[in-house]
Amino acid sequence: MISRKLKDKLAGLETPFYLYDMDLLRLTLESAVSMASRYGYKLHYAIKANYDPRLLEMIRSYGLGIDCASGNEVRCALEAGFDPSGVVYAGVGKKESELRYAISQGIFAINCESLEELEVLSALATEMGKTVTVALRVNPDIDPKTNHCIDTGQADSKFGISYEEILENSERIRQLPGLRVRGMHLHIGSQIRELHVFEYLCEKVNVIVENLEAAGFELEFVDVGGGLGINYDMPENEPVPNFASVFAIIHSHLRVGGRPVHFEFGRAIVGQCGELITRVLYNKTTATGRKLLIVDSSMTELIRPALYGAYHNIENITSAETKREKYTVVGTACESTDKFDENVSLPVSKRGDLLTLKSAGAYGQSMASRYNLHDLPRSVYSEEL
Ligand code: LLP
Repeated sequence: MISRKLKDKLAGLETPFYLYDMDLLRLTLESAVSMASRYGYKLHYAIKANYDPRLLEMIRSYGLGIDCASGNEVRCALEAGFDPSGVVYAGVGKKESELRYAISQGIFAINCESLEELEVLSALATEMGKTVTVALRVNPDIDPKTNHCIDTGQADSKFGISYEEILENSERIRQLPGLRVRGMHLHIGSQIRELHVFEYLCEKVNVIVENLEAAGFELEFVDVGGGLGINYDMPENEPVPNFASVFAIIHSHLRVGGRPVHFEFGRAIVGQCGELITRVLYNKTTATGRKLLIVDSSMTELIRPALYGAYHNIENITSAETKREKYTVVGTACESTDKFDENVSLPVSKRGDLLTLKSAGAYGQSMASRYNLHDLPRSVYSEEL
């Protein structure tokens, strides 16, 4: 969150950039780690949410492991100093080169998402003379009650293996050479705000684990994924997500014996500590009377509004005007969907004013592109200002 003191310091900086509040990241990590330790839960940070090296360094200092979605993410995590024993790797389409790399690094687990992938992994591990720990990513068929663009655990989704398919093929899976199938994994979606969804998740996991055991799998850990949402509407009211509630729900509903329980949070760790700071370039009014504020960033810096219709709270952080106006805030890219929001009530804003798009720490900078040959956005850290 941007203090008055910070606002003055931002005014002279070249825009756009991502501003990271390192104190807030620290507070968030302290909360996540202390709440998880009450129950002995293991945390992995979903690195896809943000790869910034300074953020990774702080996350590592709090002892989290990493959740990856590609070979390059595994490489990035290891280069950032995370221990292979804390790295998990999921993904529906892992290439052979990526699997070989993950096998060679001896990471904690590869989360497999199809029978064919299990067979390919088995063949590669055997060829490399290694034994790989595997978690089966099960598709539990749960509606996470979130934006449909980011749900991942419903029956028709591309993610995970159907539970029935695993049971039908349990003998075959258990006998695949080179694999130690020891974990059960699921991830049902992102930005989950209705926490009772985690109760359904537990009920499903309880049944799945019991039946996988009955089918002969020796499960040593359960990974329930990430998904905890953040408050995009009023970030100031909830700068640190409610880790206590989600862990308490899991603790009271999950029945998996003494098996370690792993989580893979991305957004909940870094979402609120990042903001996109951008400058008003031009004012213009369309022939239909719509007032546009054209700013110096775009979907190439923050694609979430254009891609998912996602909402980011926008504030003018430099205007002293008391009169307000309703604006459509648009970016510089040559795309009509390049719009941050409509009907945004802001103090009358003029060329040179600074706007912030809040809650942009997760899936903001990491999803930036170079479309229109824009430069990739840089990072500015609160503690350096
Ligand atoms: N684990 C797995 C296997 C995942 O696929 C994801 C996110 C996570 C963990 C972390 O989920 P989180 O705790 O951040 O909700 N770009 C989208 C979100 C895509 C999420 C992809 N998977 C957005 O901007 O909303």
